[in-house]
Amino acid sequence: MQKDFQYVLGIETSCDETSAAVITPRKTLSNIVSSQQVHLSFGGVVPELASRAHLKNITSIVDAALTNAGIGFEQLDGIAVTHGPGLIGALLVGVNFAKGLSLALNIPLVGINHIEGHIYGNFMDGKQIPLPFIALVVSGGHTLIVLLKDHLHYKILGETRDDAVGEAYDKVGKLLHLPYPGGPEVDKLAQTGDPEYVQFPRAMLNRDDFDFSYSGLKTAVLNFLQEKPEQEIQQHLADICASFQQAATEVLVKKTLRAARTYQVRNIVIAGGVAANSLLRKWLKAEAQRFHIAVHSPPFEFCTDNAAMIARAGYERLRRNLQSSLDLNAYPALRLGKAEQGNL
Ligand code: KG4
Ligand code: ZN
Repeated sequence: MQKDFQYVLGIETSCDETSAAVITPRKTLSNIVSSQQVHLSFGGVVPELASRAHLKNITSIVDAALTNAGIGFEQLDGIAVTHGPGLIGALLVGVNFAKGLSLALNIPLVGINHIEGHIYGNFMDGKQIPLPFIALVVSGGHTLIVLLKDHLHYKILGETRDDAVGEAYDKVGKLLHLPYPGGPEVDKLAQTGDPEYVQFPRAMLNRDDFDFSYSGLKTAVLNFLQEKPEQEIQQHLADICASFQQAATEVLVKKTLRAARTYQVRNIVIAGGVAANSLLRKWLKAEAQRFHIAVHSPPFEFCTDNAAMIARAGYERLRRNLQSSLDLNAYPALRLGKAEQGNL
């Protein structure tokens, strides 16, 4: 039986954003995302610093989410929290906070897989996408193609065997001395560059599966840069970014489309931070159109890590009576679609 959940609080602390959001079935009332600045000088996320910053901020971020939504704690109907995958110390801050709040308010709690949250970033504010669909999840930690025949049921068709595509963007950004995270910077520079300047490898493109590999591409960029004088690199920064982006995106586009055609679906959704990439959005849409397949992507604010997408996935679970117990734990390597202790 489906239940009515009016106000759902989402909490996300799996990596370096402390985020809390309040949604209703048709509206995002608030979505506070605090990106931790302590990592900037390290050029990557330092796990221990992330946990400490979450701990320091979580109470005020949740308070702000309620205030911005214009509701009090007593009006909440349920709480959804990311319980994996992610950094263990970071996840534990959100999970324990959510457990305490659920107990104090006597309202249901549900643990959400972060990747599931990204997929449900496509369903914000009551948006509907017909099932079945293929989801391409591309972020700093994940690169996978998933088939959904039913809500909340996942068949992983393929995934990266090494680096995630967002990780490759960030590493290339670092090699080019761009600010962290490199993804948005590379995207911006690539827009004025020549994608044919260097032919970087398209790993696993012609294999008959839906897996990816991005570590070779990153190494190819590194090797290319080591052979060129600094002056030439600086002169062709946009061209190098465009060539890398072209190689990274071509494999994503072609494999996703092949999956959609193999499983005869008419809809594709893209999710995760790299779903904000301008070339991926444009190219996948154009290619899919040729086969009368629709491509859906979340608004930019719901692409990168945020708690509204966690609340949305939580809403879908809670209204189907899928709740977690107070045994809910954090799992750094949680698999999509796999139930763990304390969760249905
Ligand atoms: O989903 P997300 O916020 O965190 C993870 O779950 O990993 O994704 C962050 C990743 C970073 O690697 C970032 O560089 C990448 O998404 N990203 C982009 C763009 N915007 C964010 N990559 C390429 N183009 C973009 N426009
Ligand atoms: Zn994410």
